[in-house]
Amino acid sequence: MAWLRFICVWFGLIGVSLGVGASCNAKRGETTCVTEDLLEMLIRINSRRGRDWDKQMKPAFFASLKGSVALSNSNKVLIFEGVKVNRGGGYDPSTGIFTAKRDGLYHFSCLIYGDNGKDVGYQLTKNESSYATGYSNKGPSEASTLSALMELKKGDRVYIKHRHSGQTEAVIGSDHSSFAGYFLQD
Ligand SMILES: *[C@@H]1O[C@H](CO)[C@@H](O)[C@H](O)[C@H]1NC(C)=O
Repeated sequence: MAWLRFICVWFGLIGVSLGVGASCNAKRGETTCVTEDLLEMLIRINSRRGRDWDKQMKPAFFASLKGSVALSNSNKVLIFEGVKVNRGGGYDPSTGIFTAKRDGLYHFSCLIYGDNGKDVGYQLTKNESSYATGYSNKGPSEASTLSALMELKKGDRVYIKHRHSGQTEAVIGSDHSSFAGYFLQD
C-alpha cells in the first residue's frame, strides 16, 4: 500500500502549499511558502518576547495617595499606595520607594495637594539626599508639582519625603496627590 501513502502525502503537501499560498509570495530558489510561514511564526514569537522584555526592563510607575496623610517629622516618606501602573515592579507601594533595576535616565514627577490652611514642604529624594524640593503653600486648595530628570544607577532609590522638621503638615489623598516615574533612555 506504499503507493496509497505516497498519494496521501502528495495531496497533503499540495494542501499545505495552497493553504499558506494566499499570503505568501515565495520565489523559486529563494524560500518556500512553508519556510516563510515558519519564519513569520518565529518572528512573531520573538517580538512577543521582546514586548515582555520591554515591560520588565523599561520601568514605569504611577501611584496616587488614597488616604490623607499627616506628616509630623521630617523623615517621613510619603507612601502612595494606590498603584495604577507598575511596569517592572520597581515601585514598592508598602514603602513608597522606587528602586532602579537598571542604569539610565529617568523622569519623575509628583503632585502634592496640601490640606486646607497648611503648607507642605517635601522633597524628591535620591537615596539619602534631597534632589529637588517642593512646597505647597498654605491656603485653600493649594497644590504644587515637581518634575525632574535623574541619572540613576541600578539599586538607587527614589521617593518623596517630608522636609519641614517639627511641623505637622497634611497631604490630601483620594487620588489628589500622586507620584510617577519612568525610564527614558540608557
Ligand atoms: C544608593 O543606595 C543603594 C542601596 O542602598 C546603593 O546600592 C547605591 O550604591 C547607592 N547609590 C549611591 C549613588 O550612593
